[in-house]
Amino acid sequence: MDERKHDKNVSENEVKPFQPSVNFVEQAKVKDDSLYREAENDRLAFWSKMAENIEWMEKWDQVLDDQNPPFYKWFINGKLNVSVNCLDRHVNNGRGDKQALLFEGENGDTVSLTYKELLNEVCKFSNALKGLGIGKGDAVTIWMPMIPEAITAMLACTRIGAVHSVVFGGFSPEALKDRIKDSESKLVITADGANRRGKEIPMRSAAEEALDQSPTVEKVIIVERTGTSYQPKEGRDLLWEDLMKDAEDSCEPEIMDAEDPLFILYSSGTTGKPKGILHTTGGYLVGVDTTFRYVFDHREEDIYWCTADIGWITGHSYIVYGPLSAGSTTFIYEGTPDYPARDRFWELIEKYKITIFYTAPTAIRSFMRWGNQHPDKRDLSSLRLLGSVGEPINPEAWLWYHEHIGNANCPIVDTWWQTETGMIMITPLPGVTGLKPGSATMAFPGIEADVVDDQGNSTGPGQRGFLVIKSPWPAMLRTLYKDPERFENTYWKQYPGLYFTGDGAWKDGDGYFWIMGRVDDVLNISGHRIGTMEVESALVEHPSVTEAAVIGKVHEIKGHSITSFVTLKEGVEGSDDLVQELKAHVGKKIGAIARPEEIFFTYELPKTRSGKIMRRLLRDIAEQRDLGDVTTLMDPQVVSAIKEGYKEK
Ligand code: WTA
Repeated sequence: MDERKHDKNVSENEVKPFQPSVNFVEQAKVKDDSLYREAENDRLAFWSKMAENIEWMEKWDQVLDDQNPPFYKWFINGKLNVSVNCLDRHVNNGRGDKQALLFEGENGDTVSLTYKELLNEVCKFSNALKGLGIGKGDAVTIWMPMIPEAITAMLACTRIGAVHSVVFGGFSPEALKDRIKDSESKLVITADGANRRGKEIPMRSAAEEALDQSPTVEKVIIVERTGTSYQPKEGRDLLWEDLMKDAEDSCEPEIMDAEDPLFILYSSGTTGKPKGILHTTGGYLVGVDTTFRYVFDHREEDIYWCTADIGWITGHSYIVYGPLSAGSTTFIYEGTPDYPARDRFWELIEKYKITIFYTAPTAIRSFMRWGNQHPDKRDLSSLRLLGSVGEPINPEAWLWYHEHIGNANCPIVDTWWQTETGMIMITPLPGVTGLKPGSATMAFPGIEADVVDDQGNSTGPGQRGFLVIKSPWPAMLRTLYKDPERFENTYWKQYPGLYFTGDGAWKDGDGYFWIMGRVDDVLNISGHRIGTMEVESALVEHPSVTEAAVIGKVHEIKGHSITSFVTLKEGVEGSDDLVQELKAHVGKKIGAIARPEEIFFTYELPKTRSGKIMRRLLRDIAEQRDLGDVTTLMDPQVVSAIKEGYKEK
């Protein structure tokens, strides 16, 4: 270990990059900058070549249609099926007996499915779906724990051309209801319950009201995972097992156009209403297949573990579609890293001989705090590559990860991307890129990223600005579901012709990107996206609340935590009980991840003269910084009142 790098005061610019070992480079898929040069020479020819890794039923006539920006289209007139690419083609190529999916439950039960077996399961479930009248273009909501059936359900939707909308299992039934409504799903797939730290978390019974109040839902399919009881609704509720029992195990795949919708994934934006991010079939698959192979330097014998939940984009792209399209073995775990003990993840790496491990900085910071003794007592020597995603990784966490999990021997790919981008955009190539702890390094070949100032001009080295993408890429979102106007306004209006990411960033003298986090009203809590406005709308729905402002406060483990400032209705007194009630209320409206850590009552919120809440000031108060310019405030006294109130707490 190079001692210099432990010194946090060494500026990022001066750190000598960590180079991959000779041994790693020798076996790496990419060893030099040829891929970058190839893509620079002719970006579309590069993507066209990458698309050759996919099995098409009919080849496309044109790589990119950019006639109607920002509504770009990729692989025009290409026909394909995603499940065929993720399953059939590997079986047909003689890899039918290779493990596709490995699963371990929280209580130690296991499932192992070969490509052939997973294909059979997917075909059976596809037939079950068809039997229920689900077909091409129908929306299906999946609200499930991390169990193999969730992946089978996703792949079956792609086989028959149904559009899935996976809702994170940790979102509340009310949040589920909103998403079912927006997507107009005819079918919901769920479970009786989920296992969480030794407890059963009810799902189907918890969703009773949400389902009853969803008029579009004709059928509900339930996987029996925990044995948690619920009242089945006759004629609507069906058991997974019953449907699978008699289903045929072969199913003709639907022929899909490259631009047919593949899935919707709701993500937080800057209003109270989540955005239905729409991805289509061909470009998405090319994007995740290519990045999975190169960023993770995929080899035939790899056992790959991404710790995300399938309810987030990372689960879609890098648990399911990328790894299976590349013919990898993807491992999933049902539970949390600290149950039954804090070495659970390391135990699993030892047991399954995981070679590639992809997780989030918030998890790494928890591991650090729990202590080295947990990973140290396990054999982690199977690991050869580590990854990080979801938020900026602080150099200290990077170094700990490198040393204690990677034994100073595994490259770390710090991958920057978004639900919208569908695929990894800024990342090292592990056999090529020198790594600087805390930097996601450089744009993936074929991706043009930059940092620009307010005017949209490139900033110089060291100058902060906004991260943008300068040209379309295959896995880009195509629109916001049923809201093309919001799609244009959110991403394409700030800088005409450029995709606005919502992140602040700077580039160093070597051209490395350093991402600073969101510049809009989106929070990143433990690597999960939550909109300030969503939490605010949940709070103001409570009968005691008049107005609420929500901010992200820097948090040691979570990156940010939610702090909210609330004004109460006349005659309502703030109390600890009310704080608890409001926290529970937000949990009910959105889910536990959105519960504010702190709630403060104030007689007024600081606003500009035009009535805009000044969140910057609230952040400064919460983080106890000197307040900057307050001259634009409507009522400067509000600030001192809030400040006093905050100190007293
Ligand atoms: C942040 C998750 C720094 C960023 C894949 C982005 C990151 C948001 C990184 C998207 C990273 C993700 N370094 N920041 N490596 N990866 N982010 O849509 O702010 O859940 O805009 O997608 O996470 O979050 P989302």
